[in-house]
Amino acid sequence: MARVEGVGLGLRAPLVGDLMTRAPPSLRWVEVSPENHMGRGGFFERMLADARGRFPVVTHGLSLGLGDRVPPDPAFLRALRAFLESVGTPWHSDHLCFGAVDGAHLHDLLPMPFTRESVRAVVDRVRLLEDALSLPIAVENISWYAHPGDAEMSEADFLGEVLSRSDARLLLDVNNAFVNARNHGTDARDFLQRIPADRVVQIHVAGHFTGADGFRIDTHGEPVCAEVYELLEFALSRTGRVPVLLERDGDFPPFDELAAEVERLDAILQRASP
Ligand SMILES: [Fe+2]
Repeated sequence: MARVEGVGLGLRAPLVGDLMTRAPPSLRWVEVSPENHMGRGGFFERMLADARGRFPVVTHGLSLGLGDRVPPDPAFLRALRAFLESVGTPWHSDHLCFGAVDGAHLHDLLPMPFTRESVRAVVDRVRLLEDALSLPIAVENISWYAHPGDAEMSEADFLGEVLSRSDARLLLDVNNAFVNARNHGTDARDFLQRIPADRVVQIHVAGHFTGADGFRIDTHGEPVCAEVYELLEFALSRTGRVPVLLERDGDFPPFDELAAEVERLDAILQRASP
């Protein structure tokens, strides 16, 4: 299993040419979503093989829906386990949300109610996935725009409960924390102060869209904003130096602009205590 440290970038088809020929030296690893590669062959298989030849890989899932109540398909889990073993990821992450209802996949990351019942469901799901995949599972906090039902606790307490009752690790998305705080009138630093920093194995950073009315939407299609860089520095002061991933999923700028963001993230990371 490869050692993962420093700054990484999400492996996306429009980036792979530049990644292979002129990645900045501070780019140390790539994040791969298995669902984009499993069973696809051709270009996607070559892209992954090229990236693996050059960088350690960490996997980030799109479809396990840690809040879903329907058990995951055993055949999918077997194929996923084989994929994760083949790329040597140190852990596998997915989102703290639900994405399927009554067996229908909704293709969206929908927030779970912050209730004790949801905590139990996630804890059971994490256990099932750890057994099926034989790897640590990291849960990611998502951006959410409306909360379903009556919350019994805050999002930070919800995360804390899930982590205290399971072996799950945390993939801390500081952009999601910032977007939620701005949209719901809460304090992102307070959120970061209340989550268990010692469980964070990885951090996500991304850009988001701000509408004319100030509402923020998590697009991964904009440059990282100054406040999110500051929030990253604050998060790292609590977690120590953990791997940081730049997520860019659309509106790809000239590669030099992404390389500059990677360099800036690396400078922040190097200032954090080991
Ligand atoms: Fe993320």
